Amino acid sequence: MNGPGWAEVSVPASSGNLGSGFDAIGLAIELRDTFRFEHSHRDYIEADGKFAKFVPVDVRRNLSFRAFRSLAPQSAGRYRLHVHRVTPGQGGLGSSACAIVGGLVAAKLAFNLEISSDELLERAADLEGHPDNVGPALVGGLVITVRDGSDLHWLPVKFPDSLGIVLIVPAYRVATARARVVLPQQVPLADAVANLSRTALLIGALQAGRFDQLRVATTDQLHEPYRSKLNPALDPCRESAAAAGAYATVLSGSGPTIIAFCPPERNLTIASAMGEACTVSGHKCETYVIGAASSGAQPTENWIKQTRKSDL
Ligand code: HSE
Repeated sequence: MNGPGWAEVSVPASSGNLGSGFDAIGLAIELRDTFRFEHSHRDYIEADGKFAKFVPVDVRRNLSFRAFRSLAPQSAGRYRLHVHRVTPGQGGLGSSACAIVGGLVAAKLAFNLEISSDELLERAADLEGHPDNVGPALVGGLVITVRDGSDLHWLPVKFPDSLGIVLIVPAYRVATARARVVLPQQVPLADAVANLSRTALLIGALQAGRFDQLRVATTDQLHEPYRSKLNPALDPCRESAAAAGAYATVLSGSGPTIIAFCPPERNLTIASAMGEACTVSGHKCETYVIGAASSGAQPTENWIKQTRKSDL
């Protein structure tokens, strides 16, 4: 077997959709979970970190373990997975994409597999069911993904450094599966046109630094309206963010996390206004003032150091 047989990778959280870019756009967020796979006498999973309780420890259910196994050679033997989890578990920050990408990239490193980013992304999107979170988890930054029949096309796009990000994570949970069931299978042509024109405007506005266009550009008619009952804190947070000077506020993925794009000098004011609006609406929350992650999944310094040493 080629490769060191073990791996430790760090993978960013991500925010899917960004409003109008439903199932097509995702942004990597600088909150990183770590996945360490090493040989053991049996298969098992341990987790630590602030949100460890959200890591499934059943090896048949754990997405990271399943992704790792899907690429590991038959002869690989048993593994211990250790997860350091800092991504909130309530939903909306791409934790399943993060886990899947963590498992796939760990297998690539552990067994020195020749597998391209295209192939990793295809596999990750198949395991996840939608592609918008796996792109940024794998390569970082803002990523556009498009399904064309069985092909998956993807393109990283520059995300401006000059845009501040505030996350509100309400204490209630939203399961993505449930949030997908509430969506209609068919939509009015006018809604489809509204979203595609706004998504185009969103990419253009981000590239041109025209943040004044972000509110219109992110406004969605394909998923947020149908998910509003599952996400009762969205409207109060959006109103308070706009009043405090945010450019735009959207549901992160299927929620409950809410993401606001802000002038950086107003980050703290906006975070505090949104946090208060969320609490007043009856929902406790956590608030993060955070950046986009420019790098995607990568080996940890520890793994690089250890594997270099054993090469000598
Ligand atoms: N695009 C997906 C959805 C993201 O909105 O269902 C889920 O996190």
